[in-house]
Amino acid sequence: MKDILLTGDRPTGRLHLGHYVGSLKNRVELQNSGKYEQFVFIADLQALSDNAKTPEKVRENVVQVALDNLSVGIDPKKTTLFIQSQIPELSELNMYYLNLVTVSRLQRNPTVKDEIKQRGFEKSIPAGFLTYPISQAADITAFNAKYVPVGVDQVPVIEQAREIVNTFNSLYGETLVMPEAILPKDDICKRLPGTDGKAKMGKSLGNCIYLSDTPDVVKQKVMNMYTDPDHIKVEDPGKIEGNVVFSYLDAFCKDEHFEKYNLEYSNLDEMKAHYKRGGLGDVKVKMFLYKIVEEILVPIREKRKYYEENLDEVYKILIDGSDAAKKVAGETLKKVRRAIGVEYFEK
Ligand code: TRP
Repeated sequence: MKDILLTGDRPTGRLHLGHYVGSLKNRVELQNSGKYEQFVFIADLQALSDNAKTPEKVRENVVQVALDNLSVGIDPKKTTLFIQSQIPELSELNMYYLNLVTVSRLQRNPTVKDEIKQRGFEKSIPAGFLTYPISQAADITAFNAKYVPVGVDQVPVIEQAREIVNTFNSLYGETLVMPEAILPKDDICKRLPGTDGKAKMGKSLGNCIYLSDTPDVVKQKVMNMYTDPDHIKVEDPGKIEGNVVFSYLDAFCKDEHFEKYNLEYSNLDEMKAHYKRGGLGDVKVKMFLYKIVEEILVPIREKRKYYEENLDEVYKILIDGSDAAKKVAGETLKKVRRAIGVEYFEK
């Protein structure tokens, strides 16, 4: 049997280049390696844990995130794509796992702590939000996932899932599969900065390039990128550190891009050296980056257009995926009920 891989996205907005390098690209490569059985899902229940007052935002983005996944190359023939809320088995698992974690443990989770601060929840944390790592453990274990490709910020959440698996298995007998996070290989891909130079691309920060942005919008965002504020005249020496354009080139540029778009250099190091020396203007570097980003986005936009025009097909993929996922989660739930001893009427 193949090892199982599972990952999900919260549908709170369209997905952007940070998601692409941090997670989407990786999951498509893993899918195409043929080595794993793969589940990808849209975590609408988790999104509701901090958006209960605006469910329409979550609802609208379920389709957007499905489109984002399909357009980057998630193939429903190879990957089961489903919607979390359509699998009530996950909520029952969550109920059992809630008893295995203390409130103080949840409050210590660094990712959740950060998110509470970002959302101004310090004085009034929704209980469902504080406990989302437990629900996430249900998502992961329901499908017997061994590998969970995620961004670095999710590591503490996966650690929480591992603790739950440990506790469950030692209390009720070996039942659940121990999961492990798979992280992006390159550091720059672990956290792509925002176009404004802020540490992270964030939907709420307005500093993202979305996979669904039009070429004009992408160009405008690249042209407005934060560079080196002291690099005023072309002749001035420029700084690479903290210069977003070069961070993006680190993430996306390959040597072959120079052959195609810029014959002045043969690799990124040469271009960086010129910039540092002085004599290379920001606009030139930005145009180069724009071409590279567009090379990635053109095929994604094309696929997206196809699926946007064939939304019935998208819904069918989600219905079939959810049906298949429900079966798998149901099997795990049966095992869990037996292990705890709440299967009173089974013969
Ligand atoms: N917490 C993840 C995020 O914010 C989404 C998610 C929910 C997830 N359940 C998951 C990721 C299970 C991996 C596995 O992006």
